[in-house]
Amino acid sequence: MNTSMQPGFEQRTQGVLDDLSATGQLKQLQMIEGPMGPSITLRDRGEVDCFCSNNYLGLANHPDVVEAGIEGLRQHGAGTASVRFICGTFTAHEALERTIADFLGVEASYTFVSCWTASEALFPTLCEPGDCIVSDELNHACIIDGMRLAGVIKKGVRKAVYRHSDMAHVREVLQGLRDDPAFTGEIFLVTDGVFSMEGDIADLPALRALCDEFGALLIVDDSHGTGVLGATGRGTHEHWGMRGDEIDLFTGTLGKALGGGAGGYIAGSKAAIEMIVQRGRPTLFSNALPTTVACSARKAIEVLDADPSRVARLHENVRIAREGIREVGFEVLDSPTAICPIIVGDTAKAIAMSNQLLDMGTFAIGFGFPVVPEGTARIRVQISAAHEQVHLDRLIANLRSLKQS
Ligand SMILES: Cc1ncc(COP(=O)(O)O)c(C=O)c1O
Repeated sequence: MNTSMQPGFEQRTQGVLDDLSATGQLKQLQMIEGPMGPSITLRDRGEVDCFCSNNYLGLANHPDVVEAGIEGLRQHGAGTASVRFICGTFTAHEALERTIADFLGVEASYTFVSCWTASEALFPTLCEPGDCIVSDELNHACIIDGMRLAGVIKKGVRKAVYRHSDMAHVREVLQGLRDDPAFTGEIFLVTDGVFSMEGDIADLPALRALCDEFGALLIVDDSHGTGVLGATGRGTHEHWGMRGDEIDLFTGTLGKALGGGAGGYIAGSKAAIEMIVQRGRPTLFSNALPTTVACSARKAIEVLDADPSRVARLHENVRIAREGIREVGFEVLDSPTAICPIIVGDTAKAIAMSNQLLDMGTFAIGFGFPVVPEGTARIRVQISAAHEQVHLDRLIANLRSLKQS
């Protein structure tokens, strides 16, 4: 025990942890030896098939992506040792940001150490008192916290939440704002492109139409859509046949399909990005993305662009996996995304089932409260282009055993 720890705090914290343990809700971190891939080696367990990474395109250990990171390290060293506007921007950052903007078909982008940070930069910087952020109830936690922070940093930023993907409710909320004579600000409507716990897709054409009708900006966090949806992996907008510049602002991550290291970005108009550079607290007070990641993520986008057949392979694997999951008797939402949640209800049950799967050699994590609402715990199976038929066959066989146990 840390001898300086206050006994009251120690007792309270230990009480919560003991309770989590007693109710089967304590998470265990698995130690991975070696790189990420369709199969991975877990310490004290050996090789298992990995169905819980966001390594959707299998690029996390792609030789060109790894080499680009090493070359970035050789060229620039570990980092800038500075905040970007002071002395902290390498040419590698500029090149990555140009590549991201071109990939998405927008004017500009700016990178951060994570999408979480990007979200915490976007709302408090671009929203002003009197504006309103309108958000889907199932949006990712980084959006929720970005919205909360906007309200704290700029008193008078309003928030409204609409029922998940309910376009009638979106209309009602937007109409309510425009009918309110006291409301004269901007509206920022924000949605996940692919919802991270459900694996369903936001109806971007409908949201775009509503935003146009009521004069709102449309912001899409496409962390789980980028690299996954659309024929060339541009993301949820491509899935719907939309251009990137039909979305006012994107947030996204480099920590999933695009190399999987870490990092996030905001992408959109030059003016919005310049505002982030000038006024964003994470841009003014926090270091840049490490150059290893700036270089490996850029290479990941280049590899994807050079060979979109990876995306087609992912789509086919997703189809096979969903069919198999249903065939063994579990329910899974019909969707082209790589997130296949199997809802089981109780958190302890989800964790126990995922442990059973792990004992059989399939690594798929059970999610419960507070990651998802109480009573909706689930095992989230995630598919990658790197999975081969043999991995998918083993997944289905182990799910069948689980169902029958
Ligand atoms: C929709 C969504 N947005 C943002 C993030 C956070 O991304 P990062 O790890 O880059 O902070 C996640 C990660 O789980 C996510 O699912």
